[in-house]
Amino acid sequence: MIDLRSDTVTRPTPAMREAMARATVGDDVYGDDPTVRRLEARTAEILGTADAVYMPTGTMTNQVAIRAHTEHGDRVIMDIASHVVRSEGGGPAALAGVTVHPLMGDRGIFTASQLRDALGVTHPGSPTTLTPPATLLTVENTHNGGGGSIWPLELIDEVVAIARAAGLRCHLDCARVWNASAATGIPPARYARDFDTVSVCFSKALGAPVGSALAGSTEFVARARRFKQQFGGGFRQAGIIAAGALYALENHRGDLARDHEKAGHLADVLVSIPGVELVREHVETNILRFNVPCAAAHFVDGCRERGVTMLVSGAHSVRAVAHRDVSMEDVGRAGEVIREVLEAAGR
Ligand SMILES: Cc1ncc(COP(=O)(O)O)c(C=O)c1O
Repeated sequence: MIDLRSDTVTRPTPAMREAMARATVGDDVYGDDPTVRRLEARTAEILGTADAVYMPTGTMTNQVAIRAHTEHGDRVIMDIASHVVRSEGGGPAALAGVTVHPLMGDRGIFTASQLRDALGVTHPGSPTTLTPPATLLTVENTHNGGGGSIWPLELIDEVVAIARAAGLRCHLDCARVWNASAATGIPPARYARDFDTVSVCFSKALGAPVGSALAGSTEFVARARRFKQQFGGGFRQAGIIAAGALYALENHRGDLARDHEKAGHLADVLVSIPGVELVREHVETNILRFNVPCAAAHFVDGCRERGVTMLVSGAHSVRAVAHRDVSMEDVGRAGEVIREVLEAAGR
């Protein structure tokens, strides 16, 4: 099976497993797992932050960040298709008791004027108690729902400056910062620079089996550790998996440009297939989101029968993700299968 559902499906390599088997471990809840500590220190170093905390999932890092930055009833502004809105089980409302104020971005990227409008204007005649106070801005880069889109750095700088001027804190969901950096050459620390907190994932394109980190100031990370425990994320001899994450961080970042080439190759094939809707220039990293002229469920089932699996993401929309466990040949074969299935559906 050529599995293009996600870059999370990658398996640890023999060298990564070896590193995991050799890991020295302690009890992470007591703060004495040396491999977890090394992973946290290295992550903070790469992101240019004072500290970082290792957690089981990217969802937990985002939810802990929102919980730690806000009070119940606050308003958190983010793109409507962001992972936090669509794929975190309603966490902001359930866990932090906040209102999400979604902005209608273009492939996950909203404008400075949309943010200004969302922040609104103050006037002595308008009671300030009506509107939930906006206290946090969240940006997702690369944007999963937007098809792996990359935020232009100038726009990030602009929206963060607007948020800061209005007194908001800023969180960056940079689960795939490694892909953004591989595509643009902009270092992760520059993407992270003006945010209070940054989430990164090791278990996606980097190929580690488990884990994410939330990075920020020493004080913030100390507070985040409290919520990590409260949300059930104290995970004892986590050094075993942290060793996989550390291995991925040190050895796999250089491979991501190749994943982007694979995604680009698949995109080249897709734009040549009648009926497929995909803007070639929109494929900037490893994620492709495209529309098919038949029911996406029927299309995906047909591809699966022929050995290629992808995700249904709407009535006619499909997601395919290139990653380190598929080859250029696999991606070429996937293109052929997609063409065959759509030809059969059109008959
Ligand atoms: C942008 C983004 N943030 C957060 C997550 C959540 O990561 P996890 O699956 O580890 O909870 C994902 C997962 O795909 C994601 O794409």
